[in-house]
Amino acid sequence: MNYQFGLIGYPIKHSLSPWIHESFLKDNQLTGTYSIIEINPMDSFATEIEKLKASNLNGFNVTVPYKEKIIDYLDEIDDQAKHIGAVNTVMCKDGKWIGYNTDGIGYVRSLESKYPEISKSKDLNILLLGAGGAAKGIYYGLVDAGYRNISIANRTIEKAEAIIKQDTAGTNNQLLTIDQAAEDITTFDVIIQTTSVGMKPHAEQSIISFGTLKDNAIVSDIVYQPIVTTFLENAQKLNKRIHLGHTMLLYQAQFAFEIWTNAKPVVGRMDEALQHKLEGR
Ligand code: ATR
Repeated sequence: MNYQFGLIGYPIKHSLSPWIHESFLKDNQLTGTYSIIEINPMDSFATEIEKLKASNLNGFNVTVPYKEKIIDYLDEIDDQAKHIGAVNTVMCKDGKWIGYNTDGIGYVRSLESKYPEISKSKDLNILLLGAGGAAKGIYYGLVDAGYRNISIANRTIEKAEAIIKQDTAGTNNQLLTIDQAAEDITTFDVIIQTTSVGMKPHAEQSIISFGTLKDNAIVSDIVYQPIVTTFLENAQKLNKRIHLGHTMLLYQAQFAFEIWTNAKPVVGRMDEALQHKLEGR
């Protein structure tokens, strides 16, 4: 079997996905390639998709700005992706396209791999800062993994409300403003920053500042440029455990690779290499 994988999106010329997936192929003694398939938003998406359907891809990833748009072209969609309303992974099998979303589950895998003990405490008090596409994926990744206490704080409260409204799992959740979250910060065991605040070139910014945190708190940021954000530095100064955002890239890719090949690649080894690549940018 010579696997043919790819990534659609725009702009994606500098994507690290080919490096990640080709490393996975090699490590699993599989042969294949992973191509960048850039689709310019000025071109007809339908025509480009037709070309893809006619190709012999075994699977592909989908990124901005096509994660929602691709749904109309799928034959089937996994429950998780349906809930999130976005697809980042497509499996091409027997002429059918099946859509998945591995972003949220990938994030949860990355967190639980770094701190395995948290998976034994599904009633931890978790705070999500932000309510965009990334937050929605992570919220449902956490719900799917069985976490029961998840609060969301966002500048635009309606967006946080919309995420929670769709939750039928009986999660104990609360909606907060960013200020309320900052005020109540010592009540949370796991704090996950999902907004773009603090991303280069505004690396000095932080969505909230805090002077104290719960004793065993874990502080996570999905921003990975810089690798250690101001938000995480703040937590480090308080001697808290942190979780770096770039690992999410590896675990969402691991899950996609597993869907395509049934092989579960080891990602730990690639963590440092990915950090170096990102730092070199
Ligand atoms: P993504 O798909 O990466 O999550 P997104 O859907 O555009 O991107 O969501 C961006 C998130 O960052 C949102 O929660 C957004 O808050 P709003 O919903 O109020 O827009 C948040 N965000 C971006 N810039 C922000 C800022 N300067 N202050 C507070 N929140 C910000």
